[in-house]
Amino acid sequence: MAYDLIVIGTGPGGYVCAIRAAQLGLKTAVVEKTSFGGTCLNIGCIPSKALLHASELFEEAGHSFAKMGIGVPAPKLDLPTMLKFKQDAIDGNVKGVDFLFKKNKIDAHNGFGRIVAPGKVEVKAADGKTTTLETKSIVIATGSDVAKLRGIEIDEKRIVSSTGALSLPEVPKHLLVIGAGVIGLELGSVWRRLGAKVTVVEFLDGILPGMDGEVRKQSQRLLEKQGMTFKLSSKVTGVDSSGKTLKATIEPAKGEGKAETVEADVVLVSTGRVPYTDGLGLKELGVKMDERGRVVTDHYYATSVPGIWAIGDVIAGPMLAHKAEDEGVAVAEMLVGQAGHVNYDVIPAVVYTMPEIASVGKSEEDLKAAGVAYNVGKFPFTANGRAKANQQTDGFVKVIADAATDRVLGVHIVGSDAGNMIAEAAIVMEFGGAAEDIARTCHAHPTLPEAVKEAAMAVAKRAIHM
Ligand code: FAD
Ligand code: NAI
Repeated sequence: MAYDLIVIGTGPGGYVCAIRAAQLGLKTAVVEKTSFGGTCLNIGCIPSKALLHASELFEEAGHSFAKMGIGVPAPKLDLPTMLKFKQDAIDGNVKGVDFLFKKNKIDAHNGFGRIVAPGKVEVKAADGKTTTLETKSIVIATGSDVAKLRGIEIDEKRIVSSTGALSLPEVPKHLLVIGAGVIGLELGSVWRRLGAKVTVVEFLDGILPGMDGEVRKQSQRLLEKQGMTFKLSSKVTGVDSSGKTLKATIEPAKGEGKAETVEADVVLVSTGRVPYTDGLGLKELGVKMDERGRVVTDHYYATSVPGIWAIGDVIAGPMLAHKAEDEGVAVAEMLVGQAGHVNYDVIPAVVYTMPEIASVGKSEEDLKAAGVAYNVGKFPFTANGRAKANQQTDGFVKVIADAATDRVLGVHIVGSDAGNMIAEAAIVMEFGGAAEDIARTCHAHPTLPEAVKEAAMAVAKRAIHM
């Protein structure tokens, strides 16, 4: 059987690419070594959001219901049921991908894929049986894996990556998180809400590196108010797991000063992810990789070997599901001669803590470094009617616009539902819109997005409710 396209990996990059290719008339197959949906559906976006949702309601039931006049007994945690709720979310989504493959007549080959030559993919099934498939084009969408930390052995029981942290059988008394990035803050929030003491050790002098400075500072303050403790400019140099509790050695990041020992029941290693290309045969084929192990592609996602493309976490750029999806669509469209395109200036990023932290485009620090003159409009949720009604007034919206043209260059939101609100900013930016375009667009009242409108008005110093 000869295909037009074989996609290796069925994460958000791979499965979306396969569906778009099939829609465009390409005879398409996918190869997947585990279950459909990749990191995102099985051990990433979906299970983490299910636990964030459930743990947020658990916390609300314990802390916010009474002041709204809802009298309920103190909520009791049934962790096995909460983990089942998470598993049901995974299963539902994975089944959805299976349905979409069938609907689009995409052949799914279960097994480990290896590219033996351009146009030839060998699939090794779980029972050891191998089949070689032929195809015109191959897309590598094999995603990423947990970055290991030297000297700290992950056992996924007491020293866990995000994968183990999504399935802890009981709430740890003390969870020590290494890395104050997205995973550390999201999964740290889950277990803090469920009753753990959470300490986060971060190498740099602030949380969420890469985000707007003001957003980073305010988010840290809010998370501290919720009870999370941060040890900044620090690194964990070892974890002694010989005793009943883990003993982590924490040293100043720069290496000067005293080391301290902190005891914890569980240590979460969340210091980033690395591209995954093990056993794919890329070295043998001469596919060019960079110094960080990412597959090198040109603007058309073509690798250095003709007929082989790559998308998603395995190539450069933010390791985000929606970035992988958009690249999947773009490469499928390019394969049939259309003009697939991803605008890397407009890729939103969301941290699903409470409040959420969302951002698209440039930060003030980016623009200062690039020497671009800009105006800033800010609006706090304390002045937004709906946020006040909901008593969820933490955070603000910040719109950054070009000083000369008023074009929106970046939007940053800390606030309840920030992840949904950032979509409006992304659309305006995709159309090259100005802050005034947002300011003059009628926003429904009372809604949280009115704060986006007010921040856009504040760019021209004419916010009404502030
Ligand atoms: P992946 O999703 O990693 O999929 C790769 C697939 O390829 C896997 O199924 C793997 O089994 C398969 N594979 C690999 N090698 C082979 C082979 N040789 N043969 C056959 N199959 C193979 N991103 C967001 O945008 N929002 C979020 O909220 C979010 N939350 C996250 C939470 C966690 C805890 C983690 C870990 C990640 C999260 N991410 C989130 C990141 C997101 O999951 C990734 O960016 C996304 O999954 C990348 O998609 P991908 O298709 O490139 O690769
Ligand atoms: P990350 O890159 O977001 O954060 C890692 C953090 O660890 C950084 O703050 C870094 O400075 C710190 N660090 C690195 N080495 C350290 C050390 N030795 N000691 C202490 N701190 C150290 O990586 P994370 O959180 O592991 O997430 C991986 C990827 O998954 C991210 O790139 C993100 O894109 C994706 N993801 C996205 C989510 C979302 O979109 N909501 C949710 C979860 C993950």
